[in-house]
Amino acid sequence: MQTELWRNACIATFHDGEPWGWIEQGAMVTAGDTMVWVGALSDMPAHIKSNVTREHDLGGACVTPGLIDCHTHLVYAGNRAREFELRLQGATYEEIARAGGGIRSTVAASRATSEDELLALAGTRARALMSEGVTTIEIKSGYGLSEMDEGRSLRVARKLADVLPLTIRTTFLGAHAVPPEFEGRSDDYVDAVCAWMSKLHADGLIDAVDAFCERVGFSIVQTRRVFDAATALNLPVKLHAEQLSDQGGAALAASYNALSCDHLEYLSDAGVDAMAACGTVAVLLPGAYYFLRETQLPPITALREKGVPIALATDHNPGTSPTLSPLLMMNMACTLFRLTPEEAWRGFTVNAARALSLQDTHGRLRAGFRADFAVWDAEHPRDLVYRFGHHPLRQLVSAGRLVDSATFEHNQVKN
Ligand code: NIG
Ligand code: FE
Repeated sequence: MQTELWRNACIATFHDGEPWGWIEQGAMVTAGDTMVWVGALSDMPAHIKSNVTREHDLGGACVTPGLIDCHTHLVYAGNRAREFELRLQGATYEEIARAGGGIRSTVAASRATSEDELLALAGTRARALMSEGVTTIEIKSGYGLSEMDEGRSLRVARKLADVLPLTIRTTFLGAHAVPPEFEGRSDDYVDAVCAWMSKLHADGLIDAVDAFCERVGFSIVQTRRVFDAATALNLPVKLHAEQLSDQGGAALAASYNALSCDHLEYLSDAGVDAMAACGTVAVLLPGAYYFLRETQLPPITALREKGVPIALATDHNPGTSPTLSPLLMMNMACTLFRLTPEEAWRGFTVNAARALSLQDTHGRLRAGFRADFAVWDAEHPRDLVYRFGHHPLRQLVSAGRLVDSATFEHNQVKN
């Protein structure tokens, strides 16, 4: 196993306590897939230095942890550009969903696509995320909505980690929408989702369970049944909560010790308190807020004051957030939600790791953590949040290995 020294860099480690966990003239030492030392080069102990078998000069570049996209719906086929046009003419997301469009139209397109083709589509999207420094992705099912098709989506998500140098976490989102074959029988559908969950979990396909708790999704009572089934299997839960209305979903999720509640534009004070009490992460999704032309802001000040950790994600999906740019999401989180650039970065690193229960191994540059990092054409990570529409990634290292830039350069995302 090689012990490698990566020197001549300014490093944002995101250690707690100091702003950005910043280190000038920094260096990192990796052994295999693990970080063994991080600090100022002048502080490197002799016993660490003597083990080094290979050196990399990072040319004075700025280094951050690999980004963690902790909320995506990456496995699907087709796009919803026509729906975008309809919304611009005045139709609302909820009206389109009620008329059988929206999620259901992506379900139809995805069911009609082979597993190999779904893998190719998801792979192209994952490589686009990597081109902006992503090394960890959470992927939800939810465009299959049958046992077979949900299983296919989750298998595709798992396979991505075999074909690309990524950490993948899978989330079962069977309770995303009621499929046509269960029309008018949403309670029966929830029963089916709970039964599929235990089978798919037995196949090793599920890391967490999510639901869409909303007027056009599932009620609080139905969400509770999904969470009870997950808890019986010892699976952690997450929730699409208070995106379009306040259903009290966040408080319910917190009562199940949810890893995260996501969206949260309509989150109430009681919801903030419940999340704070349970250490549930608030995952904010500025792409969906922007694309749906929402005007209700998530309660950022209350989340901050109550100490709820704030994460950010792309929410990549064809209906409400067809973006593959975490850097743009950070910029939007600052301009639209008034996060600070450092909060935005912590949202895509430390707090995103926590939303996936990976906080002990991912999201910081620290001895013992996985050696995932991005090398940027910038002096400081704040420069990357301030700019938008740039392509500033110089190098990407995942599990201690330099990723061949051909993996993500000239990558054509068509859908
Ligand atoms: O995170 N809100 C529910 N799920 C997705 C949208 C899915 C879709 O419209 O296809 C979201 O915004
Ligand atoms: Fe989502």
